[in-house]
Amino acid sequence: MPRSSAVSKPKPARTLAQLADRHALYERAVQDPEGDVKFFARTYRKIRGHDPISMREDFCGTAALCCEWARSAPDRTALGVDLSQDTMNWGLEHHIVPAGRDVASRVTLICDDVRAVKRPKVDLTCALNFSYYCFKQRAELLEYFTSVHAGLNRDGVFLLDMLGGTEAILEGNTDNDHGDFIYRWEQAKFDAFSHDFQCFIHFLFPDGSKIYRAFSYDWRLWMAPELRDLLLEAGFSKVHFYWEKTDAKGEGTGVFYEPDYVENQEIWWTYLAAER
Ligand SMILES: C[S@@+](CC[C@H](N)C(=O)[O-])C[C@H]1O[C@@H](n2cnc3c(N)ncnc32)[C@H](O)[C@@H]1O
Repeated sequence: MPRSSAVSKPKPARTLAQLADRHALYERAVQDPEGDVKFFARTYRKIRGHDPISMREDFCGTAALCCEWARSAPDRTALGVDLSQDTMNWGLEHHIVPAGRDVASRVTLICDDVRAVKRPKVDLTCALNFSYYCFKQRAELLEYFTSVHAGLNRDGVFLLDMLGGTEAILEGNTDNDHGDFIYRWEQAKFDAFSHDFQCFIHFLFPDGSKIYRAFSYDWRLWMAPELRDLLLEAGFSKVHFYWEKTDAKGEGTGVFYEPDYVENQEIWWTYLAAER
């Protein structure tokens, strides 16, 4: 029996976009914490001859990488730094607390500007998914690289990534189909003189709904020689550029090497390592 005689209207069904979590989609679309941890440990060992223990993730966002680093070995510690407490809270709830007390006790998150956090010193600092592109002025990026250098232990290594290729400097969309959603990377505006680079991430769903501008970026697209020069100016002694090996079909294998020469391609990303 209905409790009320009023006719209740059926609730409109929620769209897939309304049901989705933009942080979970972002992680699926653009992150690979397990691959990053393997690459970092292998690269550090190759450069320094021993294992890194402490890792700092600048611009950590949901701190998925911090969590994976702490989970990957019982003595590893991670420090994540980000300006967004909300995003780090999401990471605490979805990664760090579920990872259990031991892992959680070895992860520290600090809500601050990456340039303001000076301690503790660490073996390895990373800045991924081009996050440092938010520093658009040369002096700002130099200040950031200098503070990373000062925050590393004597045999520390800084790992970062970069984007390049002939299409990196063009406006346009790139779609990747993940089955239950499409990840759309939009290069909305690129200024040929300043390299100011305005980009958005959108998520599109099979029911036609979308999360428009789920993430927005106001960046400068830095070029490889500029990065090498700034890292050396900031005090780093050596800069390594890596390139991913591909299989017969041209797919990335997850194995990186230091090439003598790289022929430019339409679009690429890669890791750099800078030795303190
Ligand atoms: C592109 S996301 C990177 C997330 C994640 N680390 C990754 O690799 O995908 C950029 C993050 O940088 C943070 N951020 C931007 N400027 C910052 C600054 N000056 N200091 C600290 N965090 C900053 C934002 O809050 C955002 O979470």
